[in-house]
Formats: sequence, C-alpha cells, structure tokens
Amino acid sequence: MTREKMRIVMLGCGGFIGSHLLDRLLAENECEIHGWDLADYKIKEHLAHPKFHMHRSTISSPAALQEIEQEIEKSDIVINLAAICNPAEYNTRPLDVIHSNLFDIYPLIELCAKHKRWLMSFSTSEVYGRTVASYLPNNNYEDPNLFELRENETPLIMGPISNQRWTYACAKQMTERLIYAHHMESQLPFTVIRPLNFFGPKMDYIPGRDGEGVPRVLACFMTALLDNKPMYLVDGGEARRTIVSIHDAIDALLLMLKKPHQAQNQVFNIGNRENEVTMAELADLMRQTYARITGDMNYKEHPILTISSQDFYGKGYEDCDRRMPDLSQAQTLLGWTPKIPLTDALFETMDFYHQNYA
Ligand SMILES: NC(=O)c1ccc[n+]([C@@H]2O[C@H](COP(=O)([O-])OP(=O)(O)OC[C@H]3O[C@@H](n4cnc5c(N)ncnc54)[C@H](O)[C@@H]3O)[C@@H](O)[C@H]2O)c1
Repeated sequence: MTREKMRIVMLGCGGFIGSHLLDRLLAENECEIHGWDLADYKIKEHLAHPKFHMHRSTISSPAALQEIEQEIEKSDIVINLAAICNPAEYNTRPLDVIHSNLFDIYPLIELCAKHKRWLMSFSTSEVYGRTVASYLPNNNYEDPNLFELRENETPLIMGPISNQRWTYACAKQMTERLIYAHHMESQLPFTVIRPLNFFGPKMDYIPGRDGEGVPRVLACFMTALLDNKPMYLVDGGEARRTIVSIHDAIDALLLMLKKPHQAQNQVFNIGNRENEVTMAELADLMRQTYARITGDMNYKEHPILTISSQDFYGKGYEDCDRRMPDLSQAQTLLGWTPKIPLTDALFETMDFYHQNYA
C-alpha cells in the first residue's frame, strides 16, 4: 500500500476475482473500498464490513458515473473488473459484449485521466488472439518465438469479423489501447492485467442452480459431473490453456498495490506456465479429482464426448489454440512466481462446487 490506508474504487467487485480480492484486502490490509456491482451474492460476508461500501448498481448509467467520479476524486486507485466475460456470449451477445468491455469502460478511463488516478484494468490474454504458430504448416510449437505470449512484443492476431468470438478480445484490446493513449497524452497512471485462466471457488455459476446458459469450461465440466451427464470436449479438446490458482493471482495483485512504482504503466500476464493442459486432459483430470472428492471411483470413467464448436457455441466461434505466458515481467518487477500446482487448484475448486451444489 502506498499510504497507511489506501482508498480503492472497485468496479465489478461482486464477481469471481472481485470476491477473492475483497477477501484478502479486507483481511490483510488497511484500506477503504467503494465497490460497484449489480450482483452481491458472492460477497455477502463483506456487505456489513465497516471498510467496505457496496453500491448495488450498474457502472454505466449517468447517475452512477457521477457517483463514481466523486469517489474517484477521493481515492488512490480504480480497479476495474466489470465485464461480460463468458466465451459462450462473445458470439451470441456480441453487441452487449462490445459495449460492456469497451464503451462502458471508456468514460471511466476518461475520469481516471481527468483526475490522474491509477487505473488498474482487467483485460484478457485473449487480446493475443491465436498464436503465430497456429497459422503455420504443422502448427510449429518447437520455437517459443512463435507461440509464447510476451506483453510488449507479441503481435495480437484475431480472426475475421464474421467469427464474432473475437468481439470480446477486440473490445478489450481497444480498451487497452485507449488506456495507453491516455497515458501517453495525459500521463494517466495505469496497470493492465491479462489474466490467463484463474481457477478457484466461486468462479462461475452452475446452470439450472444459480444461473442459466453456458458458463466457462470449468463450470461446464463441473455441471456434467454434478448432473451425471457427459462432459463435452469442444472440437476434440485440443486447445491448450495454462491455469493459475486464484490465490496465486491475488498474491500478484496485492504485490502490485504494494509496489506502485513497479506496477504502474505496465502490462502484466498473470498465469502459471507449469499448469498447462489440453481441454481433453483437463476433463480427464477433473473426473479423476471428482472421484477422489466423492470417494466414488466410477467417476474415473465418467463419459467424455466430443462436439463441434458450431454445435456447442453456435455460429461464429473460433478458439485460441494455446496460451503460454511469458511471466518475466511479473517475476522481475513484482518478485511474483505462482506456486500452486494444477492438481491442488482443481481439488480446492471442485471441492467447493461439490460442497455447495452436489
Ligand atoms: N477469471 C478469469 O480467468 C479471467 C480471464 C480473463 C479476463 N478476466 C477479466 O477479469 C475481470 C473479472 O473477471 P471475473 O472472472 O471476476 O468475472 P465475473 O463475471 O465473475 O465478474 C465480473 C463482474 O462484473 C459485474 N458487471 C458486469 N457489468 C457490469 C456493469 N455494467 N455494472 C456493474 N457491474 C457489472 C458482473 O455483475 C460481475 O459480478 C473481467 O474484466 C474479465 O474480462 C478474467
């Protein structure tokens, strides 16, 4: 923290990352937090905390913006987590996705620039799009230069506009560029975070229990296990992801708050290189883990089927092939290295779902 008691504006505080950040900030730090979100069911235990003030509203109405500006003036930092960020919606609600990740955020960037307040904005590793390797014959993954994601070097490559899956990535990229432009033209202090698959309790909803639609992959597989239905691998489950425990990720965010001079005016990948799996491997690991959690060894053979992305997500879907982050920025500037193995992160997350939803 820069001063004894940091004042924080947190937008989208009621979501997955916001809930974990609040847990740690309120438990470990002297701070005063004003949060905005439409939902608060993941942060119920903090609503009565004297250092936390919940504004149950959208961030995009003129009235809310006025209220947010008043708070920004008194605060040290604005942490922006608010977004529609569910892959199943990128091609099915493209206008809402673009609005949420670009137009709703733009006034907040302007407010931070006007008051010269540190804006910590959550972007996504999807801004990298597909890797160079994926466009080459035989998908050459031998050479890290062709697939490793480096914040300040890697080109950001997206598919055609008819593949509406890129609406999210493109809106996030434009938001990053606007933040950077304000930094260059009016010295806006900023930090852009590109998360690479944070996993942990409270991550998503379970369709039919506390939400509807198609959630992110972990909750899709989890729902299949809970409901005794097949797990579906989209396009064979060959896409690869690196998964980082939410607790390691929150450690990185807290280090940024503690070390503003190292964190400001930087873009950070936050992920875990050691925890890389294909979606097929993830499905298998999850059924093995669920067998351990429930003590029912039948789950080890839980059915896994494959489905086309067109059938699963609808028209206009296309996947990122691989996301292997270069983490040297976070290591060098913050002294951060993720520690939690995938097996532990999965066990904790799935145990939470089992206890709360089974
Ligand atoms: N979790 C990840 O692994 C991951 C990966 C890549 C990017 N991100 C980014 O990190 C941020 C937070 O992600 P998350 O996983 O916590 O998502 P989340 O969906 O759990 O949380 C987002 C929160 O924003 C709120 N919100 C959306 N629009 C709003 C509005 N107009 N007004 C007020 N609140 C609004 C939602 O109600 C929700 O509680 C997002 O910007 C997301 O794009 C997360």
